[in-house]
Amino acid sequence: MIEKKIITTFYETDFNSLNSEEKDLLNRAKTSLESAYAPYSGFLVGATILLENGEIISGNNQENVAYPSGLCAERVAIFYAGSQFPDVKMKTIAITAISKKFEIKDVISPCGSCRQAIAEYEVKQEENIRILLHHPDNSVLILNSISDLLPFMFKSKGLKNY
Ligand code: THU
Repeated sequence: MIEKKIITTFYETDFNSLNSEEKDLLNRAKTSLESAYAPYSGFLVGATILLENGEIISGNNQENVAYPSGLCAERVAIFYAGSQFPDVKMKTIAITAISKKFEIKDVISPCGSCRQAIAEYEVKQEENIRILLHHPDNSVLILNSISDLLPFMFKSKGLKNY
């Protein structure tokens, strides 16, 4: 048996060190989370996607009394982008969150289903999607690809015989 490892790379910085485009994306995500519908968790998430053509799409979490029927901010945004701009590549997704109930102590990172959804579009467009994760204390984690958040992901090659 051979031990093998997958290395994940991410960068840590702070909001003030970002370039103006990145700051704008996170600011839009912050604005978007104010429209989240999260009466059950009190946890508001905003996600903003920059497309290659300059379009910017924002989404926020939409909860439901039947909990699994709700949807995370990242998938609200990415499905909207995928449905409205099917042929336009996604460059960056910026994500931020606040809680009405407690102080968020760590960077908010997308859930497994959102990672899988981001992975789908990254594989489809054959180009990386940059991920910015913002913490309310103003630190920011940057990942250059969803592979860094979802190593060993299931890809369509496993489903189709190319
Ligand atoms: N949520 C997101 O919108 N994105 C994530 O990456 C994690 C969780 C939402 C789902 C739910 O509305 C609330 O946050 C609490 O889990």
